[in-house]
Amino acid sequence: MEKIIYQDRKKTNCEKWDGIFQKFGKEDLLPLWVADMDFQAPECVGKALQEYAKKGVFGYYKVPESFFEAFINWEKERHGYHVEKEWIRFAPGVVPALFWLVQCFTEKEDSVMISTPAYPPFFHCIEDNGRKVTDVPLKCTDGHYEMDYDKMEKIMREEQVKMYILCSPHNPIGRVWKEEELRRLISLCEKYHVLLVADEIHQDIILKGNRQIPAGSIGQYTDKIVALTAASKTFNLADCQNAFILLADEKLREEFDDFAEKIHVMQGSGFGYIAVQNAYEGGLDWLNGVLKIIEENYVYARHFIERELPEAVVSELQGTYLMWIDLKPYLQDKDVVQTLQEKCHLAIDYGDWFGGEDWKYYIRVNLATKTENIAQAMENLKRGLE
Ligand SMILES: Cc1ncc(COP(=O)(O)O)c(C=O)c1O
Repeated sequence: MEKIIYQDRKKTNCEKWDGIFQKFGKEDLLPLWVADMDFQAPECVGKALQEYAKKGVFGYYKVPESFFEAFINWEKERHGYHVEKEWIRFAPGVVPALFWLVQCFTEKEDSVMISTPAYPPFFHCIEDNGRKVTDVPLKCTDGHYEMDYDKMEKIMREEQVKMYILCSPHNPIGRVWKEEELRRLISLCEKYHVLLVADEIHQDIILKGNRQIPAGSIGQYTDKIVALTAASKTFNLADCQNAFILLADEKLREEFDDFAEKIHVMQGSGFGYIAVQNAYEGGLDWLNGVLKIIEENYVYARHFIERELPEAVVSELQGTYLMWIDLKPYLQDKDVVQTLQEKCHLAIDYGDWFGGEDWKYYIRVNLATKTENIAQAMENLKRGLE
């Protein structure tokens, strides 16, 4: 198995380690926030980029057929999902793509549904475009989350919802949705003519015993599903700014292409294409190594919390490398930020970033780092919450 190499990323202009002061107003924190990994990308990616850099000519890049083949093969082999080349459109990231889809497929004042806790840009892409956020929170029992179909149906019926943004697997709660759950959601969207946007950026970070089902692979309502994915979470390539918009329906494609002509961002940098192609072609062994570390870190942290902070509730991590922890019994009589920063010395994602007050005692911890950092974080939590 390819060796997974941990990098000391301090002073490398990386957001996670070098952007702490800007984000948290404090320097001496252990960073487990923004969703990237502290591991070197697969060796094949580094080699391919070095070769390209060595040539020293960086004129306009022509995307080769082999790029599309690499992605299409990956989807088929890993997810049993048959993607056609003509469905694929470029975006520099999944977040820009979310903004574009809201602009392209909804009108001002339209209602766009999400389910909190939700990745913060889900709010921004709706609100910043003058659309209305319609939130139907997930239902939570003892740290296990499900969609609230009855409430979703009631609101879809009453409020002319135009779009639902699904996160699959789900950041921050770590659920991998089952086929029957997705079918139920898709049926609701179909019944009320709601466009389903499936953010599947975490699709390859799936823990043992779970199976990722791309929404578009189910074969129902495919003319009203737009999927978004990327190699960025899978292979730690966020900086390569290369994401996929998948539009299986011709009419949706035409609408999107009209929109895209006006913003004219059709293609990214050669560096991004080369990194992504090589990762899909040669990165599987590396990914398996990283998944093993994530699983080990999760088991370590979960056992630690069960033993040392028994009143905390850890959500079962099925997918993503983001652990969602309810610390209410330990934080409810404290200043949350002061405790986590001044006493625990942690830079984590605060629960309220994902949907406000209801989540203010939750934290999201990024597990994609070396186990020593997770062990340190757990000790810090224990000491700081005492
Ligand atoms: C659900 C989800 N969507 C999108 C992104 C970011 O996408 P990008 O960097 O491609 O814009 C993240 C990153 O954490 C994420 O968790």
